[in-house]
Amino acid sequence: MNLGYQLVNRNHKVLLVDMDPQASLTTFMGLEPYEVEETIVDSLLNDSPLPIRSGLHGLDLVPSNITLSAAEVQLHSALAREWKLKRILDRVIDEYDFILIDCPPTLGILSILSLVAATHVLIPLQTHFKAYKGTDLLLDTVRQIREQVNPGLKIAGIVPMMYSNTGQDKAILEATQQQLAVVAPIFPAISRAIAFADASMARQPLAVYDPRHAMVKVLDSIAENMEKL
Ligand SMILES: Nc1ncnc2c1ncn2[C@@H]1O[C@H](COP(=O)(O)OP(=O)(O)OP(=O)(O)O)[C@@H](O)[C@H]1O
Ligand SMILES: [Mg+2]
Repeated sequence: MNLGYQLVNRNHKVLLVDMDPQASLTTFMGLEPYEVEETIVDSLLNDSPLPIRSGLHGLDLVPSNITLSAAEVQLHSALAREWKLKRILDRVIDEYDFILIDCPPTLGILSILSLVAATHVLIPLQTHFKAYKGTDLLLDTVRQIREQVNPGLKIAGIVPMMYSNTGQDKAILEATQQQLAVVAPIFPAISRAIAFADASMARQPLAVYDPRHAMVKVLDSIAENMEKL
């Protein structure tokens, strides 16, 4: 949501697609997932037109809710399932400058559909040991998707997240910069800041909730990099 909002501020037309059954993005954008009648599920399973909600902080959103979790099971047996999201998004691709797909935290079929539909992957990476170790699996998945279905898939960058000035965070940030720079550009770290959680609770992008927050500049520099892709 924050990256999308910065891109809107830079005069781009942006669509956010929530591909996570937990639907945090849908919630943070101000919708109540349980009350949303049409979600990404309708398009994935029934091929119906994308249920796009407009005018949320200048952004468009395709919402999700927990029914996506059940859909995930059905998708496993669907024909040509890998292409489903790409086909659906192709219908609206000319209407947008950027389409941002929010993936679930797992590397299941929903993430695969997203990676097949995508031109670029942006990897938010918490500066914690566990998250850092998990990047191997993600990078391996990206490699496989490239080899098997989407040869053009690029890694746009890695965004170190939830950074605090402690020993472990510093060590992991350094390791990320040293070891992953060959894989992708490493963006400036986003600090752990209560304002992010407060902004989410207020259902606003950080730049709306607290325009002068130091992290807004960092978010905007990431958006600026997206323009150069
Ligand atoms: N840098 C930060 N500092 C403090 N809180 C943050 C920061 N970034 C995100 N948060 C908060 O942490 C919560 C989870 O954030 P977010 O949904 O972006 O993470 P996620 O990794 O996508 O989680 P999920 O796996 O549930 O989708 C939100 O309440 C958000 O406001
Ligand atoms: Mg998430």
